[in-house]
Amino acid sequence: MARFTLPRDLYHGKGTLETLKTLDGKRAMICVGGGSMKRFGFLDRAVSYLKEAGMEVEIFDGIESDPSVETVMRGAEAMIKFQPDWIVAMGGGSPIDAAKAMWIKYEYPETTFEDMCKVFGLPKLRKKAHFCAIPSTSGTATEVTAFSIITDYHKGIKYPIADFEITPDVAIVDPDLAETMPKKLVAHTGMDAMTHAIEAYVSTANCAYTDPLAIFAITMIQKDLVDSYNGDMEKRDNMHNAQCLAGMAFSNALLGIVHSMAHKTGAVFEDQGAHIIHGAANAMYLPKVIAFNAKDPVAAERYAAIADFMHLGGSSVAEKIQLLIAYLRKMNDELNIPHCIKHYGKDGLPAEEGFVPEHIFLERLPEIAKNAIADACTGSNPRQPSQEEMEKLLKCCYYDTEVDF
Ligand SMILES: NC(=O)c1ccc[n+]([C@@H]2O[C@H](COP(=O)([O-])OP(=O)(O)OC[C@H]3O[C@@H](n4cnc5c(N)ncnc54)[C@H](O)[C@@H]3O)[C@@H](O)[C@H]2O)c1
Ligand SMILES: [Zn+2]
Repeated sequence: MARFTLPRDLYHGKGTLETLKTLDGKRAMICVGGGSMKRFGFLDRAVSYLKEAGMEVEIFDGIESDPSVETVMRGAEAMIKFQPDWIVAMGGGSPIDAAKAMWIKYEYPETTFEDMCKVFGLPKLRKKAHFCAIPSTSGTATEVTAFSIITDYHKGIKYPIADFEITPDVAIVDPDLAETMPKKLVAHTGMDAMTHAIEAYVSTANCAYTDPLAIFAITMIQKDLVDSYNGDMEKRDNMHNAQCLAGMAFSNALLGIVHSMAHKTGAVFEDQGAHIIHGAANAMYLPKVIAFNAKDPVAAERYAAIADFMHLGGSSVAEKIQLLIAYLRKMNDELNIPHCIKHYGKDGLPAEEGFVPEHIFLERLPEIAKNAIADACTGSNPRQPSQEEMEKLLKCCYYDTEVDF
């Protein structure tokens, strides 16, 4: 049996933040990040709309980027005290993901973080609260997905929580919120969305319901991301929808090893000052993983189909895949994203000397490869890598060398 799950209601278009007025409840807890939502006035507007809906409102703020297990536990405690019947999470993927995990702990206070990480193993939620998600970045699509990514900083590992129970009830996709993003965030979140769509399309769990969403998102991102990065606000608005469509696809078709590798390299070099931003990691690894996965004939056909939908030309499957890889690398250049970890510098920009020294990378490589293979996203990848292959693949992502195995 296959299942396809999305939020019950999705409001989209400029000004739809106002639909918060229509939520029915007594107490809403708004979860936000470090301050951008307040700075640009969206938080105050959300509070006033919810009050207009007759609700008492409390704010849980300061959720950091790549939220920690500790933050999740603190937020859940605040929820247990306030007893909201609506959780309204607003901001980038980080605060929304954290709020999803808080929601689980709020509904089931005995649950441990380990329990949460059992893939598709959550108990029924919505006994205490419903969940509304309002994204302000155009990438993670967590407003429509069954995922939440929480980082265990003691282990330096990001863990995906995956269950349709945490697919939000209401998503508000209002492009006004995305217009304040700085360029770097547009680039990284946009390539995250591109990776979601491509991984969903070649995933072993793809189906007739997810394919059209993935393909349409890919062509939209191809058309709009670079212009959005360069300041075209109409394209910025389109990207907000494109990333959401990609999310609908991957929430139901799952992902692949680009994400496994991004999850396991993101926080592991923190001590070197190198937090590898999720979207940048995906952008660097995607072309390498395509070359690796394309050894699987079914995946190869699918990558070639993507190239056709993007009108990249080419006459054979192999040539089309090469053109797709070249196109994605060109996008990285246009978005100022490095091609490999070796050149991953400050703010995720290309640098001659990146943050991660070669000897540190090589020392940690076996462990990173082992963790990446064990990541929840590996199961739906079209080609299952061995430990040796994963180490080789990660080396290609470090040195930007060709994948020929
Ligand atoms: N749940 C999922 O399905 C899923 C999918 C992919 C990634 N993720 C996770 O999401 C996280 C990344 O989320 P993200 O890329 O949205 O970034 P983020 O939420 O970490 O935010 C990054 C920064 O951008 C700022 N910001 C957010 N919106 C802004 C706006 N409109 N204007 C100005 N500044 C703004 C934030 O304050 C923050 O400083 C990672 O932890 C990643 O692993 C989750
Ligand atoms: Zn992602």
